[in-house]
Amino acid sequence: MESALSNLLHEDRRFNPPPELAASANVTEAAYAQAEQDRLRFWEEQARRLSWSQPWHTTLIWKPPFAQWFVGGKLNVAYNCVDRHVEAGYGDHIAIHWEGEPGDTRSLSYAQLQQEVSKAAHALTSLGVHPGDRVMIYLPMIPEAAISMLACARIGAVHSVVFGGFSAQSLRSRANDAGAAVLITADGGFRRGSAHALKAIADEAVEGTGIETILVVRRTGQDVFWRAGRDIWWHDLVDAQSAEHAWQAFDAEHPLFILYTSGTTAEPKGILHTSGGYLTQVSYTHHAVFDHKADTDVYWCAADVGWITGHSYIVYGPLSNRVTQVMYEGAPDTPHQGRFWELIDKYRVSILYTAPTVIRTFMRWGEQLPAQYELSSLRVLGSVGEPINPEAWMWYREHVGRGRCPVVDTWWQTETGAIMISPLPGVSSTKPGSAQRALPGISADVVDETGNSVSYGEGGYLALTEPWPAMLRGIWGDAQRYQDTYWSRYAEQGYYFAGDGAKKDEDGDLWLLGRVDDVMNVSGHRISTTEVESALASHPAVAEAAVVGAHDCLTGQGIVGFVILRGEHDCGAAQVLLTQLRRHVTDQIGAIAKPRQLMVVPELPKTRSGKIMRRLLRDVADRRELGDVTALAEGGVMEMIRASVSVDSVAPSIPEPR
Ligand code: WT7
Repeated sequence: MESALSNLLHEDRRFNPPPELAASANVTEAAYAQAEQDRLRFWEEQARRLSWSQPWHTTLIWKPPFAQWFVGGKLNVAYNCVDRHVEAGYGDHIAIHWEGEPGDTRSLSYAQLQQEVSKAAHALTSLGVHPGDRVMIYLPMIPEAAISMLACARIGAVHSVVFGGFSAQSLRSRANDAGAAVLITADGGFRRGSAHALKAIADEAVEGTGIETILVVRRTGQDVFWRAGRDIWWHDLVDAQSAEHAWQAFDAEHPLFILYTSGTTAEPKGILHTSGGYLTQVSYTHHAVFDHKADTDVYWCAADVGWITGHSYIVYGPLSNRVTQVMYEGAPDTPHQGRFWELIDKYRVSILYTAPTVIRTFMRWGEQLPAQYELSSLRVLGSVGEPINPEAWMWYREHVGRGRCPVVDTWWQTETGAIMISPLPGVSSTKPGSAQRALPGISADVVDETGNSVSYGEGGYLALTEPWPAMLRGIWGDAQRYQDTYWSRYAEQGYYFAGDGAKKDEDGDLWLLGRVDDVMNVSGHRISTTEVESALASHPAVAEAAVVGAHDCLTGQGIVGFVILRGEHDCGAAQVLLTQLRRHVTDQIGAIAKPRQLMVVPELPKTRSGKIMRRLLRDVADRRELGDVTALAEGGVMEMIRASVSVDSVAPSIPEPR
């Protein structure tokens, strides 16, 4: 059978778990077999990690594509993340070491967190928020972000966090879609040394929405517009409330949050998550994938609460496991490029979870920066958000983990709610760039167009073949889109279509290849942009690379690469270097992957969450007018790229015979 994707990249390096870690790992090899034997029983066991007010009577009701988990069970999510730890005698245990960008700090114990969440819960109730009502949250990375989310959970309200980098229009359309009446924001937040306004954006956003109240945290002290009767300071309302709050239990399927994410259309999708199944899986995966030990570990997930990573691996998963965690407000290069390493040293961080784009940025800044810091507290390193190229993986392992720490590449999505595919740090022999295998209790496969499982060594589409506890329960207000987007492609099999390309290697391990929309077709060969990017980035002169498939009248698509060179390589020598790079890709992957064109650029266009906007690069490659640039994090980057494409190298496109 012909493989759906060319199987091109070869990676032979393997790293076994450190013996001490393996010996005391939270989860061992046996978990896979146990889950295999009885998947539902396995998840029932994990659900018992939580405290339930009423046990469930049915573990799963699955009427594709609608799932209900732990039916009949009742629990309170905030109680599980906060109060029960206080009751167990850990009131003084630090939950959050918060570090503001300017260097101000706050540490919150579980007892303090319980008081803050209780007060905020009373405050929301006093504003007329009832169970099931939606509350918008538009905050910087300050403790009030987590407190607000937990306060909503405590009273059964549904939060919808919007990342602080989104515009007024994005916030407005989300508030409208969610039908929210309350918005929690701040005067502003600190980013790259300055105070950026949030309240001003919120003021603009709420016009024409159903938002009646804006609760405002004072963070920066900057001037804000104030509308009496609508705007209330957090310190006036919340601080005046009682610090004792009697929680009530909600159904396992009670909605917990809506989080908007981009799809293929202009309208973002409101991904809906519920309570019992979601908390079960984020709790279990945080325990298993990071080997988290509450008494000794210090954990840091360097994401923003505005993304699913912040929901699942800053707030719900870690706090359910009585984490001590670092929460950082600002940018990695403020006030200096060693800030992350300084924080790791200061708090003795033992588990770090960040994104490949951040790791590659650190690579550009140079290994001398992490080298100046101790970092000996680190023991597990995680990656999430995009495929991690073996070069970045190895750099992370060597220069951050000093060769001692397992690197876990975790694949999941806003929709999956929790980690689905990842090595286990005490079990897996890791391979640089591979997310390896579905976690215990999770069923994933790589399938072809028709939904048939591909053989070992072949590529195709990633499908999730059984429902999982943290799965999305739908798209808010649009059941049809839910069905169409995720479940129509493999309707016959009842599989979830993830939208990612993947490869199953000779051992059956999975390699994620990026969104299938980013898969190129060159002379009939399907080649992932990720594979070519990875090959380019493995050259010592390259700091970062992005690849797109441009139109080509001869070969269908031609591969066009945009590369950022490392500091010491200047553009003067670029022509020679680009010829070398093209040969390098040919050496790494094969002649069919040889880029048609390579361009040296100073920056790559990225969204605020750090994803490369290949669509814009395709416009440049095809020499078209630029499409919609509103999602760009830095507005001027496309002009910089356009201005620099004079330094490029074009090879004649010669179709390779199949
Ligand atoms: C998409 C989901 C999961 C939280 C952050 C992103 C890509 C995510 C990996 C990984 C390769 C990855 C996929 C996925 N992705 N993690 N470890 N390896 N690709 O959440 O914004 O919902 O994006 O991110 O393409 O479909 P998201």
